[in-house]
Amino acid sequence: MAMMEWSDKLAVGHSAIDRDHQKLVGLINELGEAMSSGQGKDVCGGVLGELVSYTKTHFAMEERLMSVHNFTGASEHRTEHLRLVQQVVDFQDQYQSGKATLSVSLLHFLMEWLTHHILDSDKALARGLPPG
Ligand SMILES: [Fe+2]
Repeated sequence: MAMMEWSDKLAVGHSAIDRDHQKLVGLINELGEAMSSGQGKDVCGGVLGELVSYTKTHFAMEERLMSVHNFTGASEHRTEHLRLVQQVVDFQDQYQSGKATLSVSLLHFLMEWLTHHILDSDKALARGLPPG
């Protein structure tokens, strides 16, 4: 199972944001490990739940920073967050009700989404914030 690796290329240079992103990478990898080692729905669902809740907490933190510092791209950035949360919460509902299963393509989607969002949107956000 391909894992997502943290590297300095992903660092946006804002310590609180970078710390959260590393935690999210860790949770995506944990989900991959739970899947590939054949863990049941309770374990996989638990990690998925943690990932969803940490993602929400992290987005809320970024959104607080955007509003405190009047970040110009805030509304587009919030829209990206909102769309992702809707997608993962929808998936989580389907998973819990047995209508969807965890798959490699879901993991790839999460890895790609996070990578692109960090490299484009979060780097732009960090440039618009005072050092933190
Ligand atoms: Fe973000």
